[in-house]
Amino acid sequence: MTARVLVLVSGAGSTLQALLDAAADPAYGAQIVAVGADRTGIEGLRRAERVGVPTFVCRVADYADRATWDVALTGLCSAYAPDLVVSAGFLKLTGPAFLDSFGGRFVNSHPALLPSFPGMHGPRDALTYGVKVSGCTLFLVDAGVDTGPVVAQRAVPVHDDDDEGRLHERIKDAERAMLVDAIGRMLREGYRIDGRKVTIP
Ligand code: GRF
Repeated sequence: MTARVLVLVSGAGSTLQALLDAAADPAYGAQIVAVGADRTGIEGLRRAERVGVPTFVCRVADYADRATWDVALTGLCSAYAPDLVVSAGFLKLTGPAFLDSFGGRFVNSHPALLPSFPGMHGPRDALTYGVKVSGCTLFLVDAGVDTGPVVAQRAVPVHDDDDEGRLHERIKDAERAMLVDAIGRMLREGYRIDGRKVTIP
């Protein structure tokens, strides 16, 4: 059976592209049924349009408040009946309505080894701290900021001459591989959440 995956993006969408490429092979076991964004004019949306995947935009500014936006985003996503929602560089925190509908099947990729360096500037904060190893984390989103149960992680070395851009690009290479591998396994084999521990059999 082919699982239904909806991807949320805010920018370049290189991680989305990795999932689109993987899902083009029927053996991957997942179909990208839609791509949603919180803004217009981004390459992430164009990547979906180029391969005929439906897109939608849900901008916070178009709603009275954040809670109304959250309900609207939940409705737009629900219409595609996804088995899994993937935040791939989606730069908004979703709220209670979204988590009520998609909790336990909403994953996010973060460019640091959580619980180190949560928030918007994972690569920059890792460089500032001076760690020698950073990486990326795939986790199930909960009500906190980058606090949900960890599904997968990959380590990435920090080089002496790294700047934020170089380190982030190296981490993004690892993120794309991690996402394609872990999401494929979650959907083909299923997964179990036991407190903070996530296992893919
Ligand atoms: C990734 O590093 C993701 O973790 C972060 O933004 C990057 C997304 O890049 N939040 P892209 O838009 O998929 O190219």
